[in-house]
Amino acid sequence: PIPVIIDCDTGVDDALALLFAVRHPGLDLRAVTCVAGNTDVDGVVRNTLTVLERAGAPDIPVARGAARPLIEPARSARHVHGTDGMGDLGLPAPTRAPAAVDAVTLLHREILASPRPVTLVPTAPLTNIALLLRTHPEVTSNIGRIVFMGGAVAVGNATPVAEFNVWHDPEAAAILLTAGVPITMYGLDVFQQVVVDGPEVHRLRASDEPGTRLAGDLLAHRPTSPGGPAEAEEAGGLGDAGAVCAVADPRGITTRLLPVEVTLAPGPSRGQTVVDRRPRPGESEIHEGRREHALVDVALEVDADRYVRLYLETVGR
Ligand code: BDR
Ligand code: CA
Repeated sequence: PIPVIIDCDTGVDDALALLFAVRHPGLDLRAVTCVAGNTDVDGVVRNTLTVLERAGAPDIPVARGAARPLIEPARSARHVHGTDGMGDLGLPAPTRAPAAVDAVTLLHREILASPRPVTLVPTAPLTNIALLLRTHPEVTSNIGRIVFMGGAVAVGNATPVAEFNVWHDPEAAAILLTAGVPITMYGLDVFQQVVVDGPEVHRLRASDEPGTRLAGDLLAHRPTSPGGPAEAEEAGGLGDAGAVCAVADPRGITTRLLPVEVTLAPGPSRGQTVVDRRPRPGESEIHEGRREHALVDVALEVDADRYVRLYLETVGR
């Protein structure tokens, strides 16, 4: 199995990602680190521990990370993910505490201890990863690839052009993109396409297996129903879980190696991932010379049915 570490802000769809990573036989989930994003970092730690217990994986080390982005204050997405940050499903509090070490220390230790190069999967603002890369740059020697959920080629969500994870900590995202390891960007363009239909969600919610039932309840969560999951059996997006599917089954996405730059300047495009899809250089390169940009494998297409099937095969039975 591929050694994997997830850095998350659990988060309804981060929880879906964790359930999948625990259960997929081709993945060896070695640690989970938590960062402020969808909710405050202590809430993220609680949600993450609860999900791992529900998934039958109570031994995976979990560490608390950054409580706020490098520069900005924290700006939660509780209006999307519920007051507890994970759909207000009324789940029990976790029975164990997180690791005694912080996220950067756990990442450093687990990455260097892994017998084979680790695939790092951030599904959250990139604060922990930026701190790791600046504190312990030698970790890149044992990172095979970083597959991150974040950014958008076309349309954003936090702003018209910026996706939440990159918008929440743009400086951290810029540090990630220049890490010097292979990077896959699983952005909003593909993220939004992978949706489980209503009857399948209903089937999952009716399961007597706790992890499977949790996946169904998470998929049924609606931002507009703060009291819990929607009554109607509606379709639900896999969200961050799609990025973990892309690790288990990379052939489900079509990527192109493209220059990507994060806009850091204040203003309406702060946090945008500017992806250069032009076939040839333009006037700026002709007049100003080519600027060096990080090259990233950007997911441009996804076989949504394939990832839904993979998810249901892995978590749904
Ligand atoms: C991303 O932001 C969070 O709300 C989701 O969990 C996902 O990681 C989407 O922009
Ligand atoms: Ca997330």
